[in-house]
Amino acid sequence: MCQSLESERLLLRPPGRRDIPAIVPLANDYDVAKNLAKMPHPYSAQDAEWFVANSEEKRAAGTDFAFVITRKADDAVMGCIGLHLNDGTFEFGYWLGKPYWKSGYATEAARRLVAFAFDDMQADTVWAGWFHDNPRSGNVLHKVGLEASRFEPRHCLARGMDIGCNITILRREAYVGRRAA
Ligand SMILES: CC(C)(COP(=O)(O)OP(=O)(O)OC[C@H]1O[C@@H](n2cnc3c(N)ncnc32)[C@H](O)[C@@H]1OP(=O)(O)O)[C@@H](O)C(=O)NCCC(=O)NCCS
Repeated sequence: MCQSLESERLLLRPPGRRDIPAIVPLANDYDVAKNLAKMPHPYSAQDAEWFVANSEEKRAAGTDFAFVITRKADDAVMGCIGLHLNDGTFEFGYWLGKPYWKSGYATEAARRLVAFAFDDMQADTVWAGWFHDNPRSGNVLHKVGLEASRFEPRHCLARGMDIGCNITILRREAYVGRRAA
């Protein structure tokens, strides 16, 4: 499946090699990496090449659906978002390069990805975790409808240690209820 997702201002499309020059400088930022579980820091072109190849492989296997977040107005690559299928539940994660923070793009992209999970992938549950010292992400997840579930340590690759993480979830009934409201 090589599907792109559209929202008002954004086009989310599967990452390709042509995106690597845009991804690397945005991802190579400790303020981005320290808030993600698995993003290496520093972040090199080799890391981006691995990301693109791995995304293609996992998409073909039907377990992961990664997208670059692009702005329709100028085709700018602003960050990435992805959905990971594990044990029947879908986890999602996302990041934006710093120049693109505070414009509502993460919330818009997350809302679109959640709709993809429930409407296209028939998810029963979608969940995401945010580190305790990253309330910006907590705000995004709250706006999209995810609710606090539990608090647990998760490893952060860039920090090289476990960090307290808020796990938030959205179940299908609640998603359908929100949409109808
Ligand atoms: C998490 C992250 C994506 C959040 O970015 P963000 O800029 O706070 O989120 P959004 O893009 O949704 O923007 C929301 C902000 O834009 C503002 N905004 C401005 N114009 C807007 C518009 N047209 N529509 C909606 N919101 C708008 C909102 O008011 C909000 O600001 P506020 O939080 O001060 O009220 C970003 O900080 C990031 O990439 N961090 C590093 C990686 C990371 O943490 N990933 C998540 C891991 S769980």
